[in-house]
Amino acid sequence: MAKTDGARLAVLVSGRGSNFEALHLGLHALDDRPAHIVGLISDQPQALALEKAERFAVPSQVIERNRYESKAAFESALVAALKTLEPNWIVLAGFMRVLSADAIAPFAGRMINIHPSLLPKHRGLHTHERVLAAREAVHGASIHFVTPELDGGPVLSQVTMAVEDNDDPDTLAKRLLPLEHRLMRATVALLATNEVKCVHGEITINGQVLRQPLRLGHDLDDHGQRMGQPDTR
Ligand code: GAR
Repeated sequence: MAKTDGARLAVLVSGRGSNFEALHLGLHALDDRPAHIVGLISDQPQALALEKAERFAVPSQVIERNRYESKAAFESALVAALKTLEPNWIVLAGFMRVLSADAIAPFAGRMINIHPSLLPKHRGLHTHERVLAAREAVHGASIHFVTPELDGGPVLSQVTMAVEDNDDPDTLAKRLLPLEHRLMRATVALLATNEVKCVHGEITINGQVLRQPLRLGHDLDDHGQRMGQPDTR
């Protein structure tokens, strides 16, 4: 039995849900959980993530865009469902919709998204193909605060990996996914155990302005602790 359950997380998905699964299992393995997932919402009724949520006994619901006459009505339903979950943080983990300013506003500074590129490079889809087309030597994933601009919000954390000569989009995606999972777990732990704010496009951690995204393995360890920080205790 966990001693604490920590921060409340709501997770938004559209598909496979491997980041959701990694986050849930990672948190579950801890005695003192920095956070726990209070609900999963999918915009796709067929999403594999829903089966995973059922298996883990995480409450889930489907809110489908085409059941509503407008994007605004769909987003109102989504916002209402999220509010009911009373989350401290909302995690977009493969949620393939762009939310409008009205849907983000109630949760401003509390919504993060994982994206498979080193933002600001390669916003949008087909990031692995685009890294190869640009002959880049380094690829990675980012977690950023959600703004109405697609994959455009301030970047909190990143993980990098080398691109090999014989890589294709599939090998890149396969190698990046476990790194995404580590980044997701570490970043959520960071958020749950520090005062992290994003106001007017500026991220602060415990009152200190973040000048560069935290790099997993360099500035951030797998438990969400800052690395190389002066000990100010
Ligand atoms: C992940 O690779 C995530 O970075 C990407 O979708 C995949 C979801 O996988 N997100 C985006 O492209 C958002 N722009 P998952 O459902 O197995 O976690």
